[in-house]
Amino acid sequence: MDENKEILSEQITNSSILEKKNYFRERTINHPILQRVYTSLMEKIEESEKGKVYQVFGPTGVGKSTLCKRVKREVLSKNHTIIQKDKGIIPIVSLELPSPDNGKFNWKDFYRRMLKEMNEPLIDYKVLREPEKKPNHRYIPNHLPSTSPALRESLENAIIHRKTKIVLLDEAQHLLKVPGGKAIQDQMDAIKSIANLTGSIFVMFGTYELMSFFDLNGQLGRRTNEIHFRRYNLNNTQDIREFKSVIYTFEKHLPLDEDSELLLHWEFLYERTVGCIGILKEWLNVCLIQALNRNLPSISYELIKNNAPLPSKALKIAQEAVYGERDLEKGEKDSYNLQQLLGFSNLTDKEDSNKSDNTIKRKDVGKRNPVRDVIGITEKEA
Ligand SMILES: Nc1ncnc2c1ncn2[C@@H]1O[C@H](COP(=O)(O)OP(=O)(O)OP(=O)(O)O)[C@@H](O)[C@H]1O
Ligand SMILES: [Mg+2]
Repeated sequence: MDENKEILSEQITNSSILEKKNYFRERTINHPILQRVYTSLMEKIEESEKGKVYQVFGPTGVGKSTLCKRVKREVLSKNHTIIQKDKGIIPIVSLELPSPDNGKFNWKDFYRRMLKEMNEPLIDYKVLREPEKKPNHRYIPNHLPSTSPALRESLENAIIHRKTKIVLLDEAQHLLKVPGGKAIQDQMDAIKSIANLTGSIFVMFGTYELMSFFDLNGQLGRRTNEIHFRRYNLNNTQDIREFKSVIYTFEKHLPLDEDSELLLHWEFLYERTVGCIGILKEWLNVCLIQALNRNLPSISYELIKNNAPLPSKALKIAQEAVYGERDLEKGEKDSYNLQQLLGFSNLTDKEDSNKSDNTIKRKDVGKRNPVRDVIGITEKEA
């Protein structure tokens, strides 16, 4: 037994193949970028005014859905006592927005799914009440033909009555599936309107496409809050160190008899994952399954190569990530130009040193302040 495997309990090393597969599949590594984004998001959620909308965006496979699940778990555990006392309370709801069948986001379907998540009975029998005069009630624009006012009102009521403080929407870029820029703005307005009216905090998780929500107009940009969940960047030495430490941690959790020496192949692992930890995990997971099925003592380079994501797929992910990061930098340059124009040049340096790593106001997407060299610890996914 290799000394690196000390981390695995005897119970795992002596367990069945199926249990070993499950063990690795369920490991979540609390790697540095995930930890920073998580801390920043939880702080925002906890300190936020009611009715705010946040957006967490990043490349495919970076771990957005994993983060979404972790936030839900954490909020549910913090509210455990309250839920025990009153089973009607649903402090947090999460929903993965489906990709629309006909290419257009379907609001009716969205309301139905949300109501189902909230265990709302009689979803299909909702009738619109006479509109009450509520203070600060901003109705969603009715020019969205698919908007169903009765269902929308039911959802608003459910959020209020269930005392739902947080709504998480994963794959939120599907909201953008509408024709034309004006319609995209309406989509975002509709979400903001529900958040505003119910006082619930909405967090939207999605790809870089989400950025078009805050490109649209200055007002939206000012009112929303964005968090960049970025990949590990090859141009940043600290990132490379951390990426290697993630590989090392995954390796330590591989329930195999011998060391796989994955770090020897870190460049290849980086190339095909583009620095996204979720893609790395899925890749190693497939390798592990094959190694266990074939009774191999470790994951060989051959196994890694045979199961590598195709170059064309990695290229597409890299292009989306790099273009997304560039767009972000462009926005930051606009902000810099604005500051120059207004004569902020003397203050800029002082302000930059106070900016958090994950907010979009950072100057260099790939660079960050030095942090302790954390090797990710793991936890079991719920
Ligand atoms: N920190 C992590 N530790 C272990 N596994 C992870 C981690 N982050 C993600 N994964 C795993 O990687 C896979 C992809 O992650 P996830 O679905 O969260 O990515 P995503 O950013 O939501 O991707 P997409 O944009 O395609 O939806 C999942 O199987 C998930 O369990
Ligand atoms: Mg996802």
